Amino acid sequence: MNYFTPWIPVTIFCIIIIQIKLVTSQIPTTLKGPFKPVTRKFDSSLRRGSDDLAMDHPLLKKNVTGNFPEQISLAISSPTSMWVSWVTGDAQIGSNVTALDPASVASEVWYGKESGKYTSKQKGNSTVYSQLYPFEGLLNYTSGIIHHVRIDGLEPGTKYYYKCGDSSIPAMSEEHVFETSPPSGPNSYPRRIAVVGDLGLTSNSSTTMDHVVMNDPSLILMVGDLTYANQYRTIGGKGVPCFSCAFPDAPIRETYQPRWDGWGRFMEPLISRVPMMVIEGNHEIEPQVAGVTFKSYLTRFSVPAEESGSKSNFYYSFDAGGIHFIMLGAYVDYNSTGSQYAWLKEDLHGVDRTRTPWLVAAWHPPWYNSYSSHYQEFECMRQEMEALLYQYRVDIVFSGHESC
Ligand SMILES: *[C@@H]1O[C@H](CO)[C@@H](O)[C@H](O)[C@H]1NC(C)=O
Ligand SMILES: *[C@@H]1O[C@H](CO)[C@@H](O)[C@H](O)[C@H]1NC(C)=O
Ligand SMILES: *[C@@H]1O[C@H](CO)[C@@H](O)[C@H](O)[C@H]1NC(C)=O
Ligand SMILES: *[C@@H]1O[C@H](CO)[C@@H](O)[C@H](O)[C@H]1NC(C)=O
Ligand SMILES: *[C@@H]1O[C@H](CO)[C@@H](O)[C@H](O)[C@H]1NC(C)=O
Ligand SMILES: *[C@@H]1O[C@H](CO)[C@@H](O)[C@H](O)[C@H]1NC(C)=O
Ligand SMILES: [Fe+2]
Repeated sequence: MNYFTPWIPVTIFCIIIIQIKLVTSQIPTTLKGPFKPVTRKFDSSLRRGSDDLAMDHPLLKKNVTGNFPEQISLAISSPTSMWVSWVTGDAQIGSNVTALDPASVASEVWYGKESGKYTSKQKGNSTVYSQLYPFEGLLNYTSGIIHHVRIDGLEPGTKYYYKCGDSSIPAMSEEHVFETSPPSGPNSYPRRIAVVGDLGLTSNSSTTMDHVVMNDPSLILMVGDLTYANQYRTIGGKGVPCFSCAFPDAPIRETYQPRWDGWGRFMEPLISRVPMMVIEGNHEIEPQVAGVTFKSYLTRFSVPAEESGSKSNFYYSFDAGGIHFIMLGAYVDYNSTGSQYAWLKEDLHGVDRTRTPWLVAAWHPPWYNSYSSHYQEFECMRQEMEALLYQYRVDIVFSGHESC
């Protein structure tokens, strides 16, 4: 197998588990940098493929009927609010798909501090998206109904029990539980943070997630390249050895959207109780008809964009205890004249280091890369934004993309 051609369904993953302890004065900050880079020879035994988990694998198979919720997930909105998202109904893939009516299933979350006692109820919104390929041999997709509800009025650092669904059908989920972020301030931190990139949906992804679950994180940063649905052939199974030979009339490469639903189920046991903060990678671009991109990423996930003054789900920020996290978009405009840069500047300006002493940033492709694959690919973004991050003394940066 040639691992340097992008269409090969190799799943690659990186995972870092970090535990942030209270700030100690010995830890050098970027104020003392920049430091000499430390590099290590690549261990090529890590560069091995892994088989895709089959669509009928128990971890990927839909296990609810009717309009019961599935693919339940959480994302931080603030220390006192949480996004709850899920999917109802059946996605369709084929030659004549009809979009479901998102208004046909309501979006409700019932929640409270005691199991079985839901003292609060909140309604939200629902939507659907389609991935269309009007090209010979390719199939169209339309999603199940995707629900997003923002529940608020929560206490920080507190456990909440919840159910989601539509009580009028009735089709409410089982009870789930989560804990809100610790209050913003220099004396409380998330217990443990998992940083995962380039996850995919193979047997190695499953090893990775078992490892994450075993480490019991209280927050997950998912730094892009989530499902690799764009490397899965429309007709199912493995990638074709030569896409343009198999589909000579298709001007764009297809993606197999049911992989997103499989991934949502695969992740649900963890992310229905621990919030996951996503940022887009190149595998989320997923071009379709009429130049539409990022449909799945933008429709499936809630992120605290509005909460952080961002006009787009492509970049945002949030606090968790004494940490301010900034998630940047590398596949949208990052120029110093553009709106992301203006937002970043504003966001950094607003950071109060006495309240959040730690400043952490993440985006998908690294700015420094000595590896032959994607060599210096994001040098332009570095040139546009790096000085600003130094100016505001960002402590730690996480990226994915160069899969190890
Ligand atoms: C990844 O998968 C490959 C093939 O399925 C296997 O040989 C390898 O041991 C796996 N690596 C890890 C870390 O699980
Ligand atoms: C997919 O949808 C497009 C746009 O609606 C349509 O032109 C095309 O015929 C559909 N393809 C199939 C295979 O149904
Ligand atoms: C496509 O599906 C719709 C709704 O199910 C149906 O009314 C229509 O006749 C179908 N069209 C074709 C060409 O099969
Ligand atoms: C639902 O949509 C309405 C109208 O677009 C918006 O005002 C409201 O904030 C949304 N609610 C949620 C939970 O997204
Ligand atoms: C259905 O799958 C989800 C996600 O894997 C899991 O959390 C849940 O326990 C399963 N439910 C049943 C009834 O098997
Ligand atoms: C960003 O700046 C570069 C160089 O000035 C320019 O070529 C590019 O078109 C700009 N991109 C956007 C999205 O404005
Ligand atoms: Fe990538």
